[in-house]
Amino acid sequence: MQQHEVVVVGAGLAGQRAALAAIEAGREVAIVSKLHPLRSHSGAAQGGINAALGKEDSVDTHIYDTVKGSDYLGDQDAIELFCREAGPTVVEMEHFGTIFSRGDDGALARRAFGGAGFPRTIYAADRTGLALLQALWEHLGTARFRLYEEWELTSLIVRDGRVHGIVAYDRKTGEFDQIGAKAVVLATGPFGRIYGRTTNAHSCTGDGVAAAYDAGAALKDLEFVQFHPTALMESAILITEGARGEGGILKNAQGERFMGKYAPHVFDLASRDVVSRAIVTEVREGRGFPGGYVHLELMHLGKEKVESRLQEICDYARVYAGIDPVVEPIPVYPAQHYMMGGIGTDPHGATSLRGLFAAGEAACVSIHGANRLGGNSLLETLVFGKQAGIAAAAYAATASAPDVRAAELDQYTAPYRAWSSRKDGEDPATLRSDMQAVMERYVGIYRNEADLLEGVRQIRAVKARFANVRVVDQSHVYNMNLADAIEVGHMLSLAEVIVLGAYARTESRGAHARTDYPKRDDAKWMKHTIATRGPEGPQLSYAPVAYTRWEPKERVY
Ligand code: FUM
Repeated sequence: MQQHEVVVVGAGLAGQRAALAAIEAGREVAIVSKLHPLRSHSGAAQGGINAALGKEDSVDTHIYDTVKGSDYLGDQDAIELFCREAGPTVVEMEHFGTIFSRGDDGALARRAFGGAGFPRTIYAADRTGLALLQALWEHLGTARFRLYEEWELTSLIVRDGRVHGIVAYDRKTGEFDQIGAKAVVLATGPFGRIYGRTTNAHSCTGDGVAAAYDAGAALKDLEFVQFHPTALMESAILITEGARGEGGILKNAQGERFMGKYAPHVFDLASRDVVSRAIVTEVREGRGFPGGYVHLELMHLGKEKVESRLQEICDYARVYAGIDPVVEPIPVYPAQHYMMGGIGTDPHGATSLRGLFAAGEAACVSIHGANRLGGNSLLETLVFGKQAGIAAAAYAATASAPDVRAAELDQYTAPYRAWSSRKDGEDPATLRSDMQAVMERYVGIYRNEADLLEGVRQIRAVKARFANVRVVDQSHVYNMNLADAIEVGHMLSLAEVIVLGAYARTESRGAHARTDYPKRDDAKWMKHTIATRGPEGPQLSYAPVAYTRWEPKERVY
C-alpha cells in the first residue's frame, strides 16, 4: 500500500498536464494509468486545437462561438477563462516541442472548423493529439513522479465526504491495492464505448466518472452526447472535421451538396450537432447511399493538399475502406464521439467531494454545454488539466495524511472475487454488446419519449443481469475478462444516467434533439442536470448556468 501527495488517474493530455502542474507546485505526484501514456485516447485527436491567434480573430470571438456552440448551456465564466488561456497554452505546447503545421509565412497554420467565426484551429497535419501527447510526455520526463502503468481504477476511498485515495487493479499481476492520496485528480477520459458505433478507443469506458459517481460525486449534463458527423462508414474511424476545414464537402446520393439546406451560411462547417442531424435526415428521407451513408468529397482539393494536410485519414480510408480519397469520395455516417457531460467541477477542477478534482473529458466544467465545438477538446485537456493540477496541489499542501486502512482492501475486492467464483452467470462481453445496442437504438441523435422510456427499461434490465456477471478466466496476468467486467459495470452506471437525463429533459438543445420537443426551452431548461447516486439509481436535480455577457439567441449557422 503506497501513499502520495497527489495521485492523477489517467495519463492522457489532461492527466499529464495536471501532474506537471502539481509537480511544478512542489508536490510529490503519482500517475496511475491503465495504458502506456502514449497510448492514451488523446493521441487519437486529429483535427487541431483552438486558439484565437490570427490577426483578424479575437478571444472574444472565440468566447462567443463557444457560448453559441454550447446552445447557451456553457458556463460563461469558465468559457472566458478557457478562451483567454488558449493562446498561452498553444505557445507553451509549441515551446515544449510540438511540431505544429506552418503556413508559407512560417506562422502556425490555422484551419477552419465547424461553428468557428474564423479559422482558429492550429494543427499538426491530422495527428494533432499525438503530436501534443508526445511533446508533453517528453517534457514530463524531465520531472520526478511515480508511474503506475497498466493499473486500472476501480474505486475511490472516501470518508466523510473527503477522498483519501483510490483502489486499483494491476493488470500485469492481477493484484488489487489501495493507493493513498491527499488529493486525487481524475483524468480518465470519455466513455464512448457505451455506444456501439463510436470514434472512441476501446479503453474509453468512463472508469473515473463511474468511480466518482459510486463515491457520491455529482455528475453533470450526461445526456448531452456528441456524434461526430464524419466517421468512416463500416468501422466508425474518425475522419477529421479538418477534412471539411480544408474544403471537403458532403454530398447525398443525388449528388446534392445538401448542407446548404440546413446551414445556409456556412454549409459543411456548421457545428457538429447540426451536421450530424442533417446526415441522418438525408439518409432517413431516402437520399443516402444504399446501406445508409453520405459521401465526403476531397477530390477537388488535389493530391498534394489531401496527402499533406490529411495524411492520417488518407491512410485510414485506404486501409480500412479500400478508398483513395484523392480520387474517390469517402463513405461517412455519424458516430458517437464526445461526452459533453462528466464529473461536475468548478473552473479549477474541484468536484463535490473534498480532495477530488477532475479534468478533461471525464469532467464537466461546463464549457461545452449542450454541444462542443471541434478543436475545443484538446484545448480543454491542457487548460483545465493545468487548473486541476494547481488546485489539487494547493489542497494537498495543507491536507492531513490520507486515512487508508489495509484491512479494508478485502471489502473493495469482494465483488470481483464473487464474479470469478461463480459457476454460472452473465458474460461481460454479451452485456456490453446488449448495452451498446440499447444506447444506439434508443438514445441516439434523434430522441423521443417512447424511445427513451424503453431505453431506461432496457438499460436497467441489462444492469440487473450484470448483478450476476461471471468472470470465466481465472488467470492473474492480463486477465482481460475481469478487466472487461469491471469496465462494463462502470459503463452501465453511466448509461443509466445518460438515458434518465435525456428522458427528463423535455426540450431540444445542442446535441440533445427531441423530436417530441423540437424547440429549445430556455424558460424551463436553461439549467444543468446534476446526477448523484441514490439507493434506487440516479437522482436528478438541476443547477443554474453561469452568465457573464452573452444573452441566449436562436442558434443559426
Ligand atoms: O474532427 C476532428 O478532428 C475532431 C476534433 C475534435 O473532436 O475536437
